[in-house]
Amino acid sequence: MNFAPVEKNRRASPTSRRRYEKLIAFAVAALLATSFPVYGQNADPNVPSLLLGAAWYPEQWPESRWEADLQLMEDAHLHVVRVGEFAWSTLEPSQGHYNLDWLARAIRLAEKHHIAVVIGTPTDAPPAWLTSAHPETLRVDADGHRAEHGGRRQFNYASPEYRVFCVAIVAQLARRFGHDPDVIGWQIGNEYTDESFDTGTRRLFHEWLQRKYKTLDSLNSAWTTAYWSQTYDRWDEIPLPTAGGNPGLLLDHKRFVSDTWRSFQRAQIDAIRKYAEPRQFITTNIGGLGWSDNWDHYEITRDLDIASWDDYVGEGSLNVARNGAMHDFARGWKRQNFWVMETQPGSVNWAPINTTLDRGETSAMAWQAVGHGADAVLYWQWRDALNGQEQYHGALVGPDGTPLPIYSEIRDIGGDFELAAAALKGTKPMAQVAIVVTYDSRWAIDFQPHNKNYDQLGILLDYYRPLRDAGYTVDIIGADAPLDGYKLVLAPDLNVISKDLATHLLAYVQQGGHLLLGPRSGMKDEHNALNVERQPGPLVAPLGGRVEQYYALDGIVPVAGALGTGTVTQWAEQLSTSAPDAEVMFRYGKSNGWLDNQPAMISRPVGRGRISYLGAVLNPDLMRQVISWAATDAGVQAEFGQVANGVEVCRRVGGSHTVYVFINHGHTQAHVALPSGLHDVLHGGESAKAIDLAAQGVAVFTTGTYESKAR
Ligand code: GAL
Repeated sequence: MNFAPVEKNRRASPTSRRRYEKLIAFAVAALLATSFPVYGQNADPNVPSLLLGAAWYPEQWPESRWEADLQLMEDAHLHVVRVGEFAWSTLEPSQGHYNLDWLARAIRLAEKHHIAVVIGTPTDAPPAWLTSAHPETLRVDADGHRAEHGGRRQFNYASPEYRVFCVAIVAQLARRFGHDPDVIGWQIGNEYTDESFDTGTRRLFHEWLQRKYKTLDSLNSAWTTAYWSQTYDRWDEIPLPTAGGNPGLLLDHKRFVSDTWRSFQRAQIDAIRKYAEPRQFITTNIGGLGWSDNWDHYEITRDLDIASWDDYVGEGSLNVARNGAMHDFARGWKRQNFWVMETQPGSVNWAPINTTLDRGETSAMAWQAVGHGADAVLYWQWRDALNGQEQYHGALVGPDGTPLPIYSEIRDIGGDFELAAAALKGTKPMAQVAIVVTYDSRWAIDFQPHNKNYDQLGILLDYYRPLRDAGYTVDIIGADAPLDGYKLVLAPDLNVISKDLATHLLAYVQQGGHLLLGPRSGMKDEHNALNVERQPGPLVAPLGGRVEQYYALDGIVPVAGALGTGTVTQWAEQLSTSAPDAEVMFRYGKSNGWLDNQPAMISRPVGRGRISYLGAVLNPDLMRQVISWAATDAGVQAEFGQVANGVEVCRRVGGSHTVYVFINHGHTQAHVALPSGLHDVLHGGESAKAIDLAAQGVAVFTTGTYESKAR
């Protein structure tokens, strides 16, 4: 891959050229000795460390047009395109007849314009010749209807026949492009979405259960099948559940779905790796606005080199906390930096009202991604196809091939990305606080919410927002991740706590960590059966207290204690203490009689650390007090500190320098005072005592120095 030197390729205005020269003068020392790989183990040293790009579908356009598109991309400082993920009918027009030459030509032209390529495998949209000759490769929905051609995602993820076709086309692509210098990575499929309920998949589910439980006795016992006469005498009696099934069965089905997507993906990883150079990464783009739960994101990303997700707002404007949390969640899947493989250039076509982001908001959103650990941001899409289902979607250029208004905003982002790439190289967000989530817990609650208003993401954000407002970096990670680096660990809804997970959490506490469990924690074991210790299951003894009863609320319950007064909605747990050193932090006020004056939160020192249990969904202001108390108790140190309302501060730490990204998400100018020793990355490394950020304005500052030519 031959990337043009930054100097030649960056925004061409004379002012910015002067700024760039100043930047070179300012950035002196080489700080390459960093332990943070940018693209997992397969980092390609030639690829810029911060990339802006777009999804490009050359197969939809005459070849004579490609050069003009690529020139416009280069002018906008786009350095990566994702191609191919829906191009199966063009790549393999009939079974076994491959036509990859056009893609090779498109890649060569991209290279000429200093644009790297990620190839998407086309398996999300099988061609008509395939599904008409092999209808068994089409998925069957929960109501028994087989999908038809004409859309996408119509394939059966579990079908062995379908996988043979997938592996064949993927192997062809990998053999041809696995050594291509301009191809930097692979995306498998596209936003894995729907499972299948056909008889073949049901058989595979039975085999999966048999491998897991070995005997029907152990399955019957784990799922308590004596209940409602569910006892199974043969594996093939077990249903493929849709809704309302046995909780143990439902949870195992979700795990089966995750494993089946993982093996679907594995087949393609193996086909690619057989030919591809290790420097080419493999990922998949995770959809569903990040928080989707059809399958376990930790499991799926385990086999990938980098995680990537598709960051869309849809209707309205950017929800800063939610979107920031989703970036942190995506970073937590592999506990490393990630890519935003798709984001909206202004607007989408699938929201109830497809409003456009305000001027500047697209830039704020791109920088928020970077601040939270994205090393690439790609717009979906470069240009709308003339026909097809997404004609109304936002794009960078119009049907006539000339730039749409959003193009210039994205070009400015690209110019600034080029300026910031050297400073950001080898940096990543580093947190003292983690929020832990597990899919088991999420699913277990969603199968039986008990209160239709129970909002797991909303509750997570109630824990998250005060931390971000106080300027802390937050990791959102799986509960089984190593926890020793964190001072504070929050578990808002950790419903499923097995003995192993309890041991892991307790070891963290014993060694000095503060664990704050939220409502519904520890109610279930790994089979989604009720824990006999009551809540929080195996952690009842160390907590020195437990949940005596839970109450779904349809109104408000008052609560008061040392940290303030407030209200509880959605869920209230009546706690008790059994250990003399377990302290009651809050009590409920007068409500249903059962809760009156009962503990709502307890806390106990354990080993060198502390466990706290908050059994209520508190109003945001009181939650802020709880988080502030927990952070102080845990010794969480200030990072940048609080800034003006509406301004987000993100911190990325490198070997010996730290980069701060300031984003004003507000609608008015904001003033941010800076500590001494910070240099303005986008303005020639000048130092400043303060900055005034316009609405949607962004500033990037760094401490110390870095290698200016690093990319
Ligand atoms: C994504 C999908 C893209 C495109 C986009 C439109 O979910 O991966 O192919 O459809 O939505 O917003």
